This record gives sequence, C-alpha cells and structure tokens, in this order.
Amino acid sequence: MERLQDTVLVLFGVTGDLARRKILPALYRLDRSGLLPERFHVVGISRKGTTAEEVVSMIASSAPTEDDAREFRARFADRVSVVGMRIDQPGEYEILSRRLAELDRAEGRPLARIFYLAIPATLFPLVAGRLSESDINDKTPPRQEARFLIEKPFGHDAASARALVDLVNSRFSPSQVYRIDHYLAKETAQNILAFRFENPLFARAWNGRHVSHVRITAAEEIGIEGRAAFYEGMGAFRDLVQSHLLQLLALVTMDRPASLAAADVHRAKEELLSRVMPPSPDRMRAETMRAQYRSYRSEVGNPDSLVETYAACRLSIDSEKWRGVPILIRTGKALREKVTEITLSFADPAIRGYRNDLTLRIQPNEGIVTDLRIKKPGFESECEEVQLDYCYRERADAAPEAYERVLYDALRSDQTLFATGREVLECWRVSEPILKAWATPGFPIHEYETGSWGPEAADLLAADAGTRWLDETHRVCPIRFGP
Ligand code: BG6
Repeated sequence: MERLQDTVLVLFGVTGDLARRKILPALYRLDRSGLLPERFHVVGISRKGTTAEEVVSMIASSAPTEDDAREFRARFADRVSVVGMRIDQPGEYEILSRRLAELDRAEGRPLARIFYLAIPATLFPLVAGRLSESDINDKTPPRQEARFLIEKPFGHDAASARALVDLVNSRFSPSQVYRIDHYLAKETAQNILAFRFENPLFARAWNGRHVSHVRITAAEEIGIEGRAAFYEGMGAFRDLVQSHLLQLLALVTMDRPASLAAADVHRAKEELLSRVMPPSPDRMRAETMRAQYRSYRSEVGNPDSLVETYAACRLSIDSEKWRGVPILIRTGKALREKVTEITLSFADPAIRGYRNDLTLRIQPNEGIVTDLRIKKPGFESECEEVQLDYCYRERADAAPEAYERVLYDALRSDQTLFATGREVLECWRVSEPILKAWATPGFPIHEYETGSWGPEAADLLAADAGTRWLDETHRVCPIRFGP
C-alpha cells in the first residue's frame, strides 16, 4: 500500500443521510484495514450543534464489537472536531479556516485538505463559490492543492449541469475536482474492463457484429424511503439512468483505453458517451416508457404527481462497432428484488433461435454467468441449456465497499473512478430529449404493483427490440443454502 499524505477531511453534511449510511461507515472500515494516512483528521461541518464526540460515536457504530468501538473512540477522540457554521455566510468560512490552520500548527506541517460536499446539490454552487474565494483553497507550495468531492446529481438538466461544470472549472483546476458516481467504484463495475480486455475469447467478439443486444437493469426493492421532497424533484431517470447506468454503459461499450491511467480511461469513456443516442422524437413513445408504483402518489401526498419511479428506454450507439445494436436500460423502485446486472446477447445468424447471454452481475451476489447449449446426455441428439458461472462470493478476500474506494482514491489523488465534466454533460445530452418528451402533456405514465418486476409496457419495449428482460428465473450466483 502506498504512503498517503497526512490529510484533513472536511465533511460538509456530517449529520446527513449519506454521511450516516455510507461515508462514516467507510471511514471506519478504512481505518480498520489500516488504509487511512498516519496523521488523519476529520472536521465535520454542522449547524445543528452536533459535538465531536457524537461524530466519533457515529463512526464507531460500524465497529463489529463494543470493544472495537471503545478502542476506536479512544484513538479518534482528538482527531475529530466539529465546526458549527452557516454555510451560506461568507464570514463563517473564517472559522473553518482558523480550525484548519490550528490543525496544521498542531501537526507541524500543512495537511492535505479534502472537502467532501455531502450536501444537497442545490447548495454546491454556493459552497464551491465560498470555498474557492477563501484562503482555504490556498495552493501555495508546500501545500498540496485542495481536493473537492462532490456527489451527484450534477445538475437537474443540461443547462444547469453546464452552469455547474463552468462554475467549477472557473474556480478550480480539473485535478482538484472529484465527481462521485459510486457505481464506478463498485468492485464488479471495475471488473467490466478487466473482463472485456483481458479475455481474448470475449475481447474479439465484444462488438455489434457478434452482440445482438445490450441490456442493463438496476432494480431496487426499496421505495423512496420517505424522501418525498427529494424524489419529487428527481424521478428514476435522473436518479439512476442519467448517471449510474449511462456510466455502466460506457464501461461496457467503450473502446480499449490506451492505458488504465485516469486520463486515458476518461478519454475513452467521453468518446463513447458522445456517440450514445436517444430515440428520435417520433420514436419516443415506442422506445421510452415511465411508470409509478401504485402507492407512490399517496406516499408523496401529491395526487397529480407525474414523477416516475420506473424508467426504461432503448438507446443506440452511433459508432462503427455498435451501430444497430439495441441498448435497453431500465430501473425502478419498489420492485421484486434488488439486482443490478448487464447482459450481452451473443448471436450468430447461422445459429438461429439461440443466443448466448453473458451476464455481469454488479450486485448483489456478484458474478459472471454465460448461458451455453450443450448436448443432453443420452441417445438422442437433443440440446439443453446450462450455465457457466463465476461467483465472487466464493472468494475469501472481501472487496472494498464503493464508498471506501471513493475515499481511498481521493486520499491518493486517483481520479480514474470519478466522472469528468464532459462525461456528465454527454449523459445530459442523451437524457434531456427523453425528459423533455416525458414533460409534454399527455405522455403516458404507467402503473405497477409494488413487488412486481414493473409494468407490461416495459416488456413490450423490450419485445419491440427483439428481446426480453431477464426475470427471476435467470439466477446469477444464487445464494446456495447448506453444504
Ligand atoms: C443513489 C440514488 O445514487 O443510488 C438512490 O440516489 C439509490 O435513489 C442508490 O437508491 C442505489 O445505490 P446502490 O449502491 O444501493 O445500488
């Protein structure tokens, strides 16, 4: 493991949902695995009167035993502090600046600074502006330039995303900005490139000459979990497709990058995303669909809501490699079970009526499975379908959780698994025509039962493209009980 610079992590939104569910547990696990810098401090920003002890306890609550939690609290007691400030008040950034200077003095050298903006996206422009104006963003050597971690959504539409990218570019250098898309940091998403490019058997056939369809599903069992205000302003397409699922599509269809260095990976992804096409205006009703689970409107208290909790679309890629291949993407809340997977169908005109489906299961029960046809043992020459699979869970070495990876990569200044401004804008270019079509009066919104696999309209969309969504009969790395 490389030696990390001694660092202070400034966490805006330290008492928020994201910090509690993902960031603080990830900090605990990094510490437990010995992956934090030798000298490491956390400064939480809060206006709620939260104390440092409370933050330490929140981190320690991820400990497996009470003894571990006690040991952590003792060790971190003087490494965590809280700055109570109102983030819209320019004068109050002085308080933060003083705290950071105190830490530098206490450590006898300038600490590297990471600012994690785990706050509602509407506040980014304000906080980014204030931080860039203050001496907190000091880049004079020997100080390392500060790093800024920001969470999706990056804008609400193409125009606001452009404004955000411009603002960030005008205030910070690209090397300072880490746009988090936590799907990129999932172990199995990272494996996509390795699998594609390290296996000649697949590397050769990974294109539209051999692949008839690409399908991406991100189903969630949970609903909107009480986040009515957030979700009413968002919807399934903006929440999952515009960001996570287009990023997965890029990983699965981009050209081999010149190297695995961040700049080369980003270049290849940007190039691919620039070629992804939404349906033409006259095909929007046939190639996109949206739906709501039945109890959604009463749950958000808006009987007229047209916000979708389910979205499906058919995209295409205008490149020599992928032209003509239907790309089917769907996501939904309150579905039968949680599963994210990508399936490529390998087809050959000489072998009619059968395709080899290759599924990359991103989560849960991570793994890879290929459907094959083999001869059924016996006197007849019948064939049967079997599956060849590789399941990660059979390994002892646990993969880091996505937010551990996000934090660790930020600590070591590795931007490979973060999204660039151009990627974000390309994803909006693809998404905006669909969202605009959905905003036109009379565009249908379907309904589905909680706990189902979604509405029939989504099945028709897939059937129209000559395929079908995989359902629960297609099990990748199922949990096997017993010996
Ligand atoms: C987030 C969305 O980006 O991803 C949530 O805002 C969604 O609505 C979550 O539930 C899903 O992430 P994961 O890692 O649980 O698949």
